[in-house]
Formats: sequence, C-alpha cells, structure tokens
Amino acid sequence: MPAIAHRVATMGTTIFSEINTLAARHQAVNLGQGKPDFDGPDSVVVKAIQAMVSIKGANQYPPGTGIAPLREGVADHARRFYELDINPETGVVVTCGASEGIFSAIMGIVNPGDEVILIEPFFDTYLPAIEWAGGVPVYVPMYPPGWTFDPEELRAAFTPKTRAIVLNTPHNPTGRVYTAAELALIAELCRAHDVVVIADEVYEHLVFGAAQHTPIAALPGMFERTLTVSSAAKTFSLTGWKVGWVYGHPDLIAGVWRIHQNVNYALNHPGQYGIAHALTLGDDYYADLKAQYVRRRDVLLEGLRAAGLKAEAPAGAFYIMADFSAVFDGDDVAFTRHLISQVGVACIPPSSFFCAAHRPITRSYVRFAYCKADAVLAEAAERLAQLRV
Ligand SMILES: Cc1ncc(COP(=O)(O)O)c(C=O)c1O
Repeated sequence: MPAIAHRVATMGTTIFSEINTLAARHQAVNLGQGKPDFDGPDSVVVKAIQAMVSIKGANQYPPGTGIAPLREGVADHARRFYELDINPETGVVVTCGASEGIFSAIMGIVNPGDEVILIEPFFDTYLPAIEWAGGVPVYVPMYPPGWTFDPEELRAAFTPKTRAIVLNTPHNPTGRVYTAAELALIAELCRAHDVVVIADEVYEHLVFGAAQHTPIAALPGMFERTLTVSSAAKTFSLTGWKVGWVYGHPDLIAGVWRIHQNVNYALNHPGQYGIAHALTLGDDYYADLKAQYVRRRDVLLEGLRAAGLKAEAPAGAFYIMADFSAVFDGDDVAFTRHLISQVGVACIPPSSFFCAAHRPITRSYVRFAYCKADAVLAEAAERLAQLRV
C-alpha cells in the first residue's frame, strides 16, 4: 500500500474536528468551534438564490479573481470603513474563505528558508501553510491575563531572514484588538526589516465598546507591504458559504492569484452575488451585529464567572478565554475533556494554538465561543454551574 506524503504523514486531525466528535458523543452544548448557530441576513441569502435562478451563467465558473460586483464591493468597503484605495481589477482576489486567502497569501509570499513570525496563540491553519512553503515559523507569545506580547520579544524576533508576519486582529482566540501603539510598533519593525504583513481581519466588524479596528494596511508605508485577508463568514454569519478575499498592492496580489488559480481557480458563483449585496448593507446592520454580540458575550461571561472561572470582557471577535484554575486541577486539554464528558459543555483547549515550548502559558485557560443563540448560552451557563459544587 503506498504511503501518503511526508509533509502530511505526522499531521493529526484539527482540534475542531476532535472536539466536535467528543461533544457529539456526550451531547454537550458546543461552544467550541466559531460557527454561528444562526444565519446571516435573509436579503443576502435571497440574492444568492436569485442569482442561481435568474442570472445567466451564475451556475457556471465565475472569473477566477471573483465577479466584478464583489471585487468592487470589497474595494468600496475598504474605502468606506478605512479610507483605503484598492484597485478592484488588480488588487483583489476572491478566495475560498479567509482560510484559502491566508494559504494563498503565505504560499505566494514565502520562499524556502524565510522566517515567518507568528504571534501566539495563532489560528491553527497558519502553521501548515508556512511549513509547506518551506518557511520557518518564529514564535512570539502573548501572555495572560491581558494577552499582550512583550515588545522586546517581538523586536528580537525580526532578523535579516524575516520575510513575513501573520497578524490577526481582532484576535482569535483571545478577543484582543491590537492597540494603536502595538500596531505602530509592528509597522515600524516591518518597514525597518522590509517585511510583509499577512493581516487576518475576519473579525474586523466584531469590535466592542471603545475599541476600534484599524487595518495595519492603513498605517503609513504599510499598504505596499500588507496582504489583508477577510471574509463573509463572521461579518455576515455565513461561514458555510466560504466566500473570502485578499486585497493589497497589485504586485503582492499577483502572488496570491498565482496560487489561487492553481488550487481553486474560482469559488462558488451564486454566493458571490449574495456577498456583493451584503457589502452594501447600511450602518444599522453593523450596529445591530455588534449589539447582539455584546449581549451574547455578557450572558456567557456571567455564566463563566458564576461557575467560578475567571474571565474579562474581550474587546473583539466572539470568544472568551477563561481561567479555570480555581475549579479544576489539570491542564487545558484535561479540563476540556472533563467539561465535555462530565459537565456537558464543549470548549477549545488553546494549547494547540501555541508551539510546544510555549504551551504552558495557556495551561489554565480554555476558549469559549459565544456565537450562539441565547437559549444555547443560557443552557451552557446552567450546566457550567455544576463546576461550583
Ligand atoms: C482568525 C481566523 N482566520 C480565518 C478563519 C477562517 O475563515 P473562513 O471561514 O472565511 O475561511 C477563522 C475561522 O474561524 C478565524 O478564526
């Protein structure tokens, strides 16, 4: 029997599949994966259906870089929210979710031997892409309870071999939104070392209270060295459509396109019409989205605190990192198993978002997703209360 390739031979299943299987076995309330249990706006879904039935050719391959209305929508959105000037012809590629956008950006930028800085904890798909490109990951951890990095550790991570840094703000799993000072430092280091930023901004509209999202591409001298990745998944609660995009300077976008055209070439056509419409929704849509998430966040936060876990209200995304050390003696993986099997609530152990050497940093923390219906969050809170007794 022939064997699979070395590059995948030792690779396990993702933590999300593992937790989903365990959660299903124990009928746990699943606050693991960042997957809303509600749908995006009806008008967006209707646009996709209308495209399927009434736009000639909409059920066939679309243009490889994405349909023009969606590329224009991405450019208009960047101008409307961030005053960025994007060329919809040469500066945007529509991808199969942000996931493929990140993959194509990394593969299109990183040469064998290049160093790529990852701020921990990091979304788990970044690492395989860097390794398959032949890159070398360089880890800079953020530390609890505030989940900030040490500026000196970040500075020290930049070397003559550094080619790129992957930056995710608002951040999964901590819910952090990088401050202006943090972004300014990263930008300064990237300019000084001629480094490219791959900016994963899928939670760009989930920013609460006084926090503000600033794309690093909007900082002086950064547009020409940043590939910004986002998607419809979290902003429009349509994770199943897998419609994402990358925008940036055409010279960098060329690399993304060359990978994209040989992996997917194009992605689902009707969904692109739906998302082109979604990007025209008014400010009230975004205000309502935030208000709903603040409410859900606070329900979960109260439940976690009542159960004896320590957690702060995060400024962004839809996750809470909670410290369980007052109610359980063991690491994040052991606590996750205990919570699923004995309490009936699923979460994610964030150690899988750290390199092996840095895993102890997150030993007493787990991540809960609150992109769930109120009744689901209330049920989770009720079950969590068992941890107290
Ligand atoms: C930080 C981050 N980046 C990318 C993605 C993937 O986005 P998409 O579903 O658009 O591929 C996720 C999904 O959870 C995420 O949390």
